[in-house]
Amino acid sequence: MNKNQEVDEMMQKASSEEKRESVKVDYDKIAEDYALEFGRKYEDFEVIEEFMSYLKSGAKILDLGGGTGKYTDLFLQKGYDAVCYDFSKEMMKKAKELYPNVPYLLDDIVHVKKHFSNETFDGILAFYSLFHIPKEEIDQVFSNIYDLLKENGIFCFVVQLGEGEDFIDEPYLKEDGKNILYFHYFTKEQIDYFIQQHHFQKLYESMKEEVGENELGDLGNSKVFVIVKK
Ligand SMILES: C[S@@+](CC[C@H](N)C(=O)[O-])C[C@H]1O[C@@H](n2cnc3c(N)ncnc32)[C@H](O)[C@@H]1O
Repeated sequence: MNKNQEVDEMMQKASSEEKRESVKVDYDKIAEDYALEFGRKYEDFEVIEEFMSYLKSGAKILDLGGGTGKYTDLFLQKGYDAVCYDFSKEMMKKAKELYPNVPYLLDDIVHVKKHFSNETFDGILAFYSLFHIPKEEIDQVFSNIYDLLKENGIFCFVVQLGEGEDFIDEPYLKEDGKNILYFHYFTKEQIDYFIQQHHFQKLYESMKEEVGENELGDLGNSKVFVIVKK
C-alpha cells in the first residue's frame, strides 16, 4: 500500500474524536519546539491589526486554539478583555511560562459552548486552528461561533486552501509521528458557503500563496485570511 492509500484508509476509519485526538497529541509533543519558533512571533500581523481595528477598547475577545497565548497577551496589552482557549496541556504550559497573566481555558473547540453563554464576545479569533477541526464538526463550530458573538461581533479566521482531509507528516517530528496530524482543507467556495450559511457578512479577505516547499517542508501552502461580522 502506498502512502496515499494508507492515509485514505486511516481517514475512512477515523472518527471525529480520533482526528481531534491526533491533533492534541501532536501539539502536546511539539509544544516545546513550536513555542521556540512561534511562541512570541506575530505572524500575518496585518490581519491581526485589521481584526483589532473593528473592536473597541475593552472588547471581549476569545482566542480559539490560542496555543502559546501570544495574541491573547497582545489583546490584553491593547486594553481588550481576552481569554485563550486550547486543548493542548503542553501548549498551555508554554503559555503559562511565556505569558503568566494570560487567562487560559483548556478544552476542545468543539465543546466551546459548554463554557460561555450566547452573545458573550465582541470578537473571536481562530488563527491557524480551524483547519484542525474535522469536517464532521466544522458546520457546528461556525454555528457555535455565531451564537457566542454579540450582535455585530467580529470573527477572524485562517484556513488552508485545498480539498478534503489529510493526515500530514508533522514537520517537527522527524522520525516518530509520521502522518499523524489531521488537516482539513477548504476551497474558496466552501469558505463562502460557511460565511453565507451562517449569515455572516464578509469584511475582509486576503490570501497568502506559498507554492513549493516551505521551511517546514510543506508543499503548496496557500492560506486565506477572513474577517466577518455577525
Ligand atoms: C498552529 S497552532 C496556532 C496557535 C495560535 N493560534 C497561533 O497562531 O500561534 C494550532 C493550535 O490550535 C489548537 N487546536 C487545534 N485543534 C483544536 C481543538 N479541536 N480544540 C482546541 N484547540 C485546538 C492546537 O492545540 C494548537 O495550539
